[in-house]
Amino acid sequence: MEDLFSQSPNDPAGRIAFLSKELDRHNRLYYTEAQPEISDAEYDVLFRELEDLEKAHPDLADPNSPTQRVGGEPLEGFQQRQHLIPMLSIDDVFKEEEVKLFFRRLQKNLNTERISLTVEPKIDGVAVTLIYRNGKLDYAATRGDGSRGDDVTANVRTIRSLPLTLGDTAPALLEIRGEVYMPNAEFAKLNEQRDEQGLPTFANPRNSTAGTLKQLDPKAVAERPLAVLAHGLGAHEGIKFDTEDDFHALLDRYEIPRNKPVWHVDTLDGVLKTIRELDQLRHDLPYQTDGAVIKVSSFAKRTTLGATSRAPRWAAAFKYPPEQKTTLLRDISVQVGRTGILTPVAELEPVPLSGTTVSRATLHNESFIQERDIRLDDTVLVHKAGEIIPEILSVDTTKRPSGSKPFSLHDHLGGKCPACSAPIELRKNAVKKDGEDYLVLTWWCGNFECPAQAVTRMKHFAQRKALDLDGLGESVAVKLVESAMARSPLDLFELTEETLADLLLEPAKLQSGEESKPRRFGEKKAAGLLSSLQKARTEQPLSKWIFAMGIPHVGESSSKELSRLHEQLTDLADSDTLKTIREITILESEQREISPRNKDNPPKDDEEKEERQAAFTQLKERIAALNDSLTSKKISPDVGPVASASVLAFFASEAGQHVLQRLTKLNINPRSDNYFPDPSSAGADAPFAGKTFVITGTLSGGRDDFKSLIEKNGGKVTGSVSKNTSYVLAGEGGGSKRDKAEKLGVEILDEEGLTKLLS
Ligand code: IVH
Repeated sequence: MEDLFSQSPNDPAGRIAFLSKELDRHNRLYYTEAQPEISDAEYDVLFRELEDLEKAHPDLADPNSPTQRVGGEPLEGFQQRQHLIPMLSIDDVFKEEEVKLFFRRLQKNLNTERISLTVEPKIDGVAVTLIYRNGKLDYAATRGDGSRGDDVTANVRTIRSLPLTLGDTAPALLEIRGEVYMPNAEFAKLNEQRDEQGLPTFANPRNSTAGTLKQLDPKAVAERPLAVLAHGLGAHEGIKFDTEDDFHALLDRYEIPRNKPVWHVDTLDGVLKTIRELDQLRHDLPYQTDGAVIKVSSFAKRTTLGATSRAPRWAAAFKYPPEQKTTLLRDISVQVGRTGILTPVAELEPVPLSGTTVSRATLHNESFIQERDIRLDDTVLVHKAGEIIPEILSVDTTKRPSGSKPFSLHDHLGGKCPACSAPIELRKNAVKKDGEDYLVLTWWCGNFECPAQAVTRMKHFAQRKALDLDGLGESVAVKLVESAMARSPLDLFELTEETLADLLLEPAKLQSGEESKPRRFGEKKAAGLLSSLQKARTEQPLSKWIFAMGIPHVGESSSKELSRLHEQLTDLADSDTLKTIREITILESEQREISPRNKDNPPKDDEEKEERQAAFTQLKERIAALNDSLTSKKISPDVGPVASASVLAFFASEAGQHVLQRLTKLNINPRSDNYFPDPSSAGADAPFAGKTFVITGTLSGGRDDFKSLIEKNGGKVTGSVSKNTSYVLAGEGGGSKRDKAEKLGVEILDEEGLTKLLS
């Protein structure tokens, strides 16, 4: 490490070049060879130094710098790139008989018995072309229509295993064709996250890859680990190849990841044997495959064979049949995720599929079950999405037992969370899918103290935006829950320094690859956490506490707005404001329903029309009155009907009630630091009841403070002086309004006058 820091600080260009090269090397060691030499923290130090240098010397920043891997600025749209050589497709073959015909045709056209061929997996990803000029990635493009594609360079740069520079020995031009893919394990993780967020899942890794590459924000792409494998040669200058092996040797020299394994065969039998062998082995590859690509090895022979407008004559793709099996759905079990999402899982009669025995398949959510009308004891067709996730494709309704009933997850669970028995709730998440509005229905457990959610809730509770608890990250939360020291966030307030200091953490991974002894949390960290808990108890404002509760649809800004409207948690639980907001939406939908102009439900006759018109008018007046009662509060859209209903439901639930009781017991009562009392709530006997104020000029405490003081005492603050104004509160330099007040004979107060008036 020492020589890493030995460059002269007066040579930023040299230092930038050095750091870029080092970081590239460490990226390769980490992502390609899985043999890191330095720790993540050491990597971060180098990375940050490079970032800082590039910021200080923008003229020296290179688009292929390792810092660009985390994603650059969002794009407006994709530029088009004309391909140097058309990106053709491959002719598909489906039967061994067709492979034979392909081989015979090669023999005839090349006039030889034996033909040197390579066979390799066909990656089910998204085709890209990578143009390197003078050893630097110039651009990357998708296939598009074969002659023009989208420039996806910014997104491709985020693929860590792909070198962005090839060094000085690189040819003048090198076009590499390859496949971008999402590794199966990453695909599984992504879909799991999407289930938890109530988003529709991707059908297969190819779709998730295509969806990711289409994103205009490279930073979002960087968060989804894509990978790329080279499999073909495009345009090139300053280099010559005889065979596919020469090309592979070049890829290896420049450490461009390439597709493996590759078989070498020269007979038809050899091809057929390899195709069968690959079929056995392909399910263990980390990406989805759908075939075997057979290619003539010699580039000279490829030229002889040529291509049709669609595909070269020197290659064929043997497509494996999609693997699907029918089996019986015996039962449906339910898993409670870390965020309380209930995921139904089909318990299947075990069936061999794509290399393993499948006995369970995710059913994702309520919508998935409803759309396919999946029922207990159904005969179902299963496949594996991304080689690993067994999924039900469809139901064979002809085999459905008589008397079968649509499946209700709610009834199946008796309406209770399997982890904590709290009542479950249906969540509706409106999303866009293939450009259309789509509703994802998910069952959810909202219990703040549900054990299945303990770690997630604790992490949420502790984050800076919430109660900012020192040293409480994921790993500590896991250990607290595992050791039963804290089962819910509020348990944290009962921890003592002694017990907390003794908490055993996961052993650390040492440089040697061995593990350290389990580490103690220790006195120092324990004291730090306890002091931030004390701060949370006494100083953190209501808004942070509201956010920390993790109430659905209540984010940071909703929490702030809620704390402006309420003084303490118990006020939220019984809030007239929130009830009014909730009621307005209910009445509005009722109003739409009974409207005599409702096309879906028109009145039968004139009598009904009249009746409905009368009811409609009544509702309209009621809604207007409710809206009026809210106007003075100027509630921001952050607290709309959805958030309001969610807050009320949370505090009305058994779990929410329990939270309030626990807080009382713990003597915790967070107060709002931006409470803006309802002016109309001050009684008629309030000191300023019925009085109207205008504030002008500069006041010592700021106008807002005086405004809320006046309103707290029942007064109203308006913007302009009229004969109805009771007082003008004037500070330094309150020019025209003061003049007008004098003219109209309105009493003018200074700060002292106002205080006197109050007392
Ligand atoms: S070689 C002229 N090798 O499949 C095309 N292609 O269906 C020669 N593909 O456009 C391509 N894995 O994007 C080749 N191992 C592999 C491949 C592969 C996937 C893609 C490629 C091609 C498409 C044709």
